[in-house]
Amino acid sequence: MKLFIDSAITDEIREVNDWGVVCGVTTNPSLVAKSGRDFKEVLTEITEIVDGPISAEVLSLESEEMVTEAEELAKIHPNIVIKVPMTKEGLKAVKILSNKGIDTNVTLIFSANQALLAARAGATYVSPFIGRMDDIGNTGFDIIKDIVDIFDIHGIETEVISASIRHPMHVLESAKFGAHIATVPKKVFEQMLFHPMTDIGIDRFLKDWKEANK
Ligand code: E4P
Repeated sequence: MKLFIDSAITDEIREVNDWGVVCGVTTNPSLVAKSGRDFKEVLTEITEIVDGPISAEVLSLESEEMVTEAEELAKIHPNIVIKVPMTKEGLKAVKILSNKGIDTNVTLIFSANQALLAARAGATYVSPFIGRMDDIGNTGFDIIKDIVDIFDIHGIETEVISASIRHPMHVLESAKFGAHIATVPKKVFEQMLFHPMTDIGIDRFLKDWKEANK
């Protein structure tokens, strides 16, 4: 499973990218708003940091306008992937963009049937939101498993991005259930990295070394 970072804060994208573990980025309108910066300026900077797919979401709700927005965003860099909401208009836009050779990521997926529709419309990626599923008392992992199984059975090449990741178990279970990608916030990357036994081990090695070399 590949790891993307879910962020529009370039400092944190740069920091985690320097660990060597990031191969793509997802943004959304809330994350861009949180950055307090101009959308295109942020996207341009992200493309200079990470050499991989960078998802940028359209704001229009009509397919024709989505396509116009998408074409503008796609001009920023060949790595830009257009994030489109899971609606009828979104599916129409995905079909048009796919015919134009523009990669898409269908977002706000909450069922395997939605993922199947998005894939059949030509989506490059689908993003099931597992954290938000958990929020309403469902089990986010079930949807990841179903989508991965269905895509495998039918030879569908659309990649599954496990999204709305809230904690390290979400990453672990996404990997176990075969998601192709998990898009992870910086806080969760930090949590994945940390283990108290690692820190205790480093302290002990350094202490023993100092004792022996007094
Ligand atoms: C994914 O592409 C979305 O940007 C993101 O994972 C949403 O996460 P949230 O539910 O924590 O806002």
